[in-house]
Amino acid sequence: MLWWIARATSLVALVLLTLTLALGIAAGAGRPQTRVLVQAVHRNASMLAVVLIGMHVATLVVDPHVDLGLVDLLVPFGSEFHRVATGLGTIALDLVITVAVTSALRTRLGGRTWRAVHALAYAMWPIAALHGLGAGTDVVAVRWLTVACAAVVGMGVAWRLTRARSRTASVLAVAGLAVTGALAGVVLA
Ligand code: HEM
Repeated sequence: MLWWIARATSLVALVLLTLTLALGIAAGAGRPQTRVLVQAVHRNASMLAVVLIGMHVATLVVDPHVDLGLVDLLVPFGSEFHRVATGLGTIALDLVITVAVTSALRTRLGGRTWRAVHALAYAMWPIAALHGLGAGTDVVAVRWLTVACAAVVGMGVAWRLTRARSRTASVLAVAGLAVTGALAGVVLA
């Protein structure tokens, strides 16, 4: 039962993190009339994702099937269970906490610092996705779900980069899409 809760919450969290990232990109580029609404959904989706990630790790800590201590939630690569993949989950969680705490302190930090730290969300997503693929079950549907989410994130990031209207950004966009496609090929092979 605990294992099912851990799995279900983690998969919904991954979808919510995908939605959060896509909406964050859309909010930055949208028209002023729609921006407030998109930002509100972005914020609520992120808060729900944090709650589900909390449930994911809390159930795994009490689940005897997985040997995880409280320290493993914050310090990566200490757990024997799929050491690298679980460590990536810890790094993703550390990044989620950093982004969430700095967002709560946004007015005190100032826009520039907050934006720089908030960009860590771009790194957090692929780390969380790789963690799920490595530590999770080998079910094909989970792989497909991860690839579908990767496609959404890949297209969102590519669109954001092409809007920057610089040659380097366009090259990065194409490279990012190529990496996403290659990842999909490897995962589904
Ligand atoms: C951003 C944070 C995180 C996200 C989005 C996330 C997401 C996921 C996903 C999608 C899976 C695969 C589920 C499946 O295949 O059915 C998974 C599995 C797993 N996660 Fe996480 N995770 C996060 C953080 C963590 C942390 C911090 C730990 C522990 C240190 C952790 C430990 C595990 C373990 C042990 C599994 C395998 C469970 C099993 O199948 O027995 N996760 N996670």
